[in-house]
Amino acid sequence: TSSAREVPSSTEGSDADTRFLEDFRSMSAFGATPSGGVDRQAATEPDIAQRRWLAELLEEKGMRVVYDRIGNQFGLVERVPGAPYVVVGSHMDSQPTAGRFDGAYGVLAAAHAVDRAARSDEAEGASPEYNLAVVNWFNEEGSRFAPSMMGSAVYTGKLPLETALAVRDRAGVSVGEALAPTGFLGETDGPEAAFCAEIHIEQGRVLERSGTTIGLVEACWAARKYRVVVNGEQAHSGATVMEDRRDALLGASLLVVAARELADRFPGVLHTAVGSMDVYPNSPVVVASKVELLLDLRADDEEVLAEADRILREQVIRVEETAKVSVDLHLSHAWGIDPYQPEGVSLARSGAERLGLSHQRIRTVAGHDSVNMKGHVPTVMLFVPSVEGISHNEGEYTEDGDMLAGLAMLTEVVRRLGAG
Ligand code: GLV
Ligand code: MN
Ligand code: MN
Ligand code: MN
Repeated sequence: TSSAREVPSSTEGSDADTRFLEDFRSMSAFGATPSGGVDRQAATEPDIAQRRWLAELLEEKGMRVVYDRIGNQFGLVERVPGAPYVVVGSHMDSQPTAGRFDGAYGVLAAAHAVDRAARSDEAEGASPEYNLAVVNWFNEEGSRFAPSMMGSAVYTGKLPLETALAVRDRAGVSVGEALAPTGFLGETDGPEAAFCAEIHIEQGRVLERSGTTIGLVEACWAARKYRVVVNGEQAHSGATVMEDRRDALLGASLLVVAARELADRFPGVLHTAVGSMDVYPNSPVVVASKVELLLDLRADDEEVLAEADRILREQVIRVEETAKVSVDLHLSHAWGIDPYQPEGVSLARSGAERLGLSHQRIRTVAGHDSVNMKGHVPTVMLFVPSVEGISHNEGEYTEDGDMLAGLAMLTEVVRRLGAG
């Protein structure tokens, strides 16, 4: 892409950039898959090993590493006694067959940006107002333990700690049980934030198409995620006559199609999917008794989302009649289109201008920990381009030049926020 050739007028030399790229390659080895991706689901062995690696890296940079009660990992630069923190980071957990960049890039960029910002401030004798913290939020992906964005939801008080610790994976292991032996369950609430910043790959094609290096995120799409249980009756898949069947998998399949048809009614404004399904008893000669599925609606218009919810509920009734099943629709996680603070967008825009980086305003369709944080403290969210928009896929890719431009950009934002 043309954006990959854009070089920021960074004050850092190429050695520091080389170290960043080396660190990025080292971190991509945790949970590496044969096809060039990663599998680092929350609190699994590769996630734990990678967190230990990050703790060492942060300590080498002179930061104090602490954990809060839900296992969010922080690297603290304490330079203004008693002052709150500019909290900068993302997540290192991943989907089961994921790319190397989603989340991980943002945590490593935060580690380097906070270090660069702190050293530049010190070298210039600046007198900043805030302390700095790197954060690796626990369980952003929610693939092993739903809901997603769990660590930042607990940190901001949106999700009770006890509820989060009690969530169980498919094997029946709870978050608390998975974290307890790791040493990542702290006994305090984590540092107090004054501001938050996050950088992430775009996971779409907007920046690539316009040849722009930096996305200044001004708002997110709204989301509603449902846990759906379709109840039928177990039967012999050969012997039972068709009229007698109450096939839960037929009901679930009709819901998958209904979700797609819903999106087709609002082209470009509504995205829908069923991404996960558990079929019981999931056996070849058995009509399914029960299916649990997760249905995800995203819209960049809250009225469209409310209308989609209404139509979905009508479709559920139709599916119940057609497949002779009963359907429980439970809204499990939702957020609205609250904008990011305009002051943060302007601050980031002046940073991009100083560095000579092309930039544009953009909305995030995917959820991020910053979506939780922006309701808590003023928050700056930045994007760098994703090649062909590929994400939640092992083929995810962002050019080195774009990662480095993003790092310079994040450093500039951290310095500006830290100055107060
Ligand atoms: C998380 O990434 C989400 O978009 O739900
Ligand atoms: Mn992510
Ligand atoms: Mn993700
Ligand atoms: Mn995400």
